[in-house]
Amino acid sequence: MKIARFSRIGFILAAAGSAVGLGNIWKFPYIAGEYGGGAFVLIYLATVLLIGFSIMIAEMLIGYLGRKDTVTSFEELAPKNKNLWKLGGFQGLAGLFIMIFYSVVIGWIFNYIVTSLTSLPSTVEEAEITFNAMLHTDVFTQLFYHTLAFIWITYVLTKGIKGGIEKMNLFLMPALMIILSSMFIYATTLGAFSQAVSFMFSPDWSKINSEAFVVAVGHAFFTLSLGMGAIMTYSASMEKGSNLVKNAFWVVFLDTTIAIVAGLMLFTFLYQYGSGPAKGPGLVFISLPAAFYEMGIIGNIFAVLFFIALAFAGLTSSVSLVEPMVQYFIDRFSWSRLKASISMGLFFYLVGIIALLSNIDGYKEALTWGGKNFFDWVDFFTAAVMLPLGGLIMAIFVGFIVEKQRVESIMRPQLGFAFDAWYFSLRYITPVAMFVVMLSLMGIL
Ligand code: PHE
Repeated sequence: MKIARFSRIGFILAAAGSAVGLGNIWKFPYIAGEYGGGAFVLIYLATVLLIGFSIMIAEMLIGYLGRKDTVTSFEELAPKNKNLWKLGGFQGLAGLFIMIFYSVVIGWIFNYIVTSLTSLPSTVEEAEITFNAMLHTDVFTQLFYHTLAFIWITYVLTKGIKGGIEKMNLFLMPALMIILSSMFIYATTLGAFSQAVSFMFSPDWSKINSEAFVVAVGHAFFTLSLGMGAIMTYSASMEKGSNLVKNAFWVVFLDTTIAIVAGLMLFTFLYQYGSGPAKGPGLVFISLPAAFYEMGIIGNIFAVLFFIALAFAGLTSSVSLVEPMVQYFIDRFSWSRLKASISMGLFFYLVGIIALLSNIDGYKEALTWGGKNFFDWVDFFTAAVMLPLGGLIMAIFVGFIVEKQRVESIMRPQLGFAFDAWYFSLRYITPVAMFVVMLSLMGIL
């Protein structure tokens, strides 16, 4: 059988499509708002550059050398104790778990595309009532759009690397960039743009505590799609002879630029037309629609375009969240792509319904433990435990387990004199940082 490989641009767009997701446009602005802007943004940027970039290269390398699903890649690259190291490949499960709530959020976005076509809330209070009504009482709407998200994502996965994933990204990523950059250009013409710039870039270190620090580091992982086998699985289909450093650079660059552009644009709108930098997950669903309302007719158009861009970002990330386990069942159990895609799709779809219900009045009581409902537990468990653990395992694996000459033969020609710094960072800096993040997020530190 001929193995499907990404084209060079296809790979970069698919990996950037994975990285650019709800994390960039929905989560980053609200956590930046929550932790006071500038200083938080700088910690996040520093983490992306110092740790994120080097783990991105390591993750690409495992996939590129392994050429198979994540479990098989770990198994093949480990010189000994293969059965132990192959467990590292099960980081692919994290993506499937993330999808449990990610698909529900994509459903909200679909709903917002449709409702923004006809009307926008005239005040933040009204927007809040609308959002909460959907979240806490409207099972039907959420289920309907969650189902749509499930069908879309599963369909693309059944079409495989070339005809599904690459093709989708070749269309949706440029569309997303065009929408966001047009809205961004408009934002730069508004008076509040400079306020947004100073909010995002002038650091107020008094706002930073250990929690803010850990959230910034954790977010750098999440937004770059690291630690759960997504980038690794895509890299298994990278063309032979590809330059991993260049590819990693493009993915990191696009992901970071889009997060900053989205943040500046949203904060400009919120300063100019709304209530200033809002906090919390409701930012794009509550404060933003009310700001769009104030803009008049252009606000209506922007609202629809914005939610379309957000949906595109979410969908291209979703396929990368599920693909690792799809590939796993294809490679290890010889399942057909159709069977693997539908089974994995059904898993996140059905468990996603429980997550959806855990926000609904009347069900949520039964689905809440220790102050978090099922939806929040899945978010917490994946971000706090699985991701940093995946990153930690990868750094140790490439830094200490895979034979150095094997790593060096590929990476030294590409990295040049920076090879030693990269290798050192994988061995010592990253593991320590990841360990600290994990313990703090779990509340141990
Ligand atoms: N990076 C995506 C985002 O920012 C989420 C994601 C994480 C996707 C891990 C794939 C793997 O939303």
